[in-house]
Amino acid sequence: MASRSPDPDFPARGSTAAGSGPVRDEQAAWQRRSIAQVWHPCTQMQRMQAVPPLPIARGEGPWLYDYAGGRYFDANSSWWVNLFGHADARINAALREQLDTLPHVMLAGCTHAPAVELAERLSALTGGVLGHAFFASDGASAVEIALKMSFHCWRNRGRGSKREFVCVRHGYHGETLGALAVTDVTVFRDAYAPLLLQAHIVASPDARQAGPGETAAGVAERALEEVRALFEARHEHIAAFIVEPLVQCAAGMAMHDPAYLRGLRALCDRYDVHLIADEIAVGCGRSGSFFAFEQAAGEGQAPLWPDFICLSKGISGGYLPLSLVLSRDETYAAFLDDEVARGFLHSHSYTGNALACRAALAVLDRFEQEDVLVRNRASAEALTAALAPLVGDPRIEHLRRRGMIWAFDVCEEWAGERFAERFHLAGRRNELLIRPIGRTVYLMPPYVLDDELSVWLAARVRATLDGVLADVLAEGTSTRSSDAAGASDPATA
Ligand SMILES: Cc1ncc(COP(=O)(O)O)c(C=O)c1O
Repeated sequence: MASRSPDPDFPARGSTAAGSGPVRDEQAAWQRRSIAQVWHPCTQMQRMQAVPPLPIARGEGPWLYDYAGGRYFDANSSWWVNLFGHADARINAALREQLDTLPHVMLAGCTHAPAVELAERLSALTGGVLGHAFFASDGASAVEIALKMSFHCWRNRGRGSKREFVCVRHGYHGETLGALAVTDVTVFRDAYAPLLLQAHIVASPDARQAGPGETAAGVAERALEEVRALFEARHEHIAAFIVEPLVQCAAGMAMHDPAYLRGLRALCDRYDVHLIADEIAVGCGRSGSFFAFEQAAGEGQAPLWPDFICLSKGISGGYLPLSLVLSRDETYAAFLDDEVARGFLHSHSYTGNALACRAALAVLDRFEQEDVLVRNRASAEALTAALAPLVGDPRIEHLRRRGMIWAFDVCEEWAGERFAERFHLAGRRNELLIRPIGRTVYLMPPYVLDDELSVWLAARVRATLDGVLADVLAEGTSTRSSDAAGASDPATA
């Protein structure tokens, strides 16, 4: 791996078209060609001229390099997937070996060692409770699978009336129609609302809503009361509750007390409702434990598990699309029958792709061999300490952390217009690839932080903040933000 420390000799460029002469031309050419032919995700393409895509030539560790010699610290792990930095030597080696052996074979009627070993190792991480892995590719497809599996499981058990789903206010579960039906982010959902299944949306346990003297656990209790009332009225019709455990990431890193998960587990048990933990963003150590749901049980209590865990993003280390749904024996058993149609007939062509599974095994190897969770605890402390000067800064509120996620909200009166976009562009000039969600600035760095890098990162975040807010102040636009937290800005989510 390349040096993880900032290189003092490296020119601090980071503009959208840094360098000069041929290199700048190359940078600009990739931007031009991309805008002409690539329809970028999560983007209002009309803004592309003002915010051209950043052409990345290569990656090494937490750094991304453009064609003009500029470098950028990948502060959001490339949409939360890149756990151990880019072009990691060990994952590369594992993939090369797999590439020469078996890149892919269909998983219907065939099997292969990487899929089997991955299913076994993930099952073991749940103490065998969630012993069956169903593979897919992206996060949204895992959510589709969990929803379908839940409904079909009830149907096979003679309870076909259980066909409704419950999700959490401002929750995000992906963009395909089924996943979008349980997503409550206006900017992604509203255009497609006529196409979507109707889901129940219950209050978020977001701890930022605490009233004076109220604790995060108190907010969780309030939110649970609404779930209880809904279950009481509709449990005969409700198949599953889907939740992002501990952090609703796309909502703007809305964090909640683990008591919420404990309460949900109890209510789902009491009213016979499946509990789906969407750990696509918060799994794989991001929340501080390998699975976020591990934190549901109180001190000294027996472990609690959901009925389904959806994993994706970090599981393949930011290399290849891979997702999966872990489920319990009793769910699996509900599909066993002589009748074909009672089986779970869902499939995708690249289900259980051998290369992706091999990357995931290399990721799990690192967790085992390097005690990543313990190491992260130490590096999280260093970054938290480096961010401490932000505590009490009147321009921001709700500075918070869970595991390897840090976030704060810029106060509405300071943020000005298009805050997220401006911060992102200013970040580039400070060697950061960083994309706020609305007024929420967050860090989800790869798990390669050391003390020096933490100090550097915090300083660059503060410099970016200071620069943007000073500009906003100078322009006199710091009145109302057009991209309020909780409503993701498609240009910068
Ligand atoms: C919690 C959660 N669920 C589902 C998804 C969808 O995953 P994908 O973008 O891979 O389809 C995301 C993506 O950000 C997510 O954060």
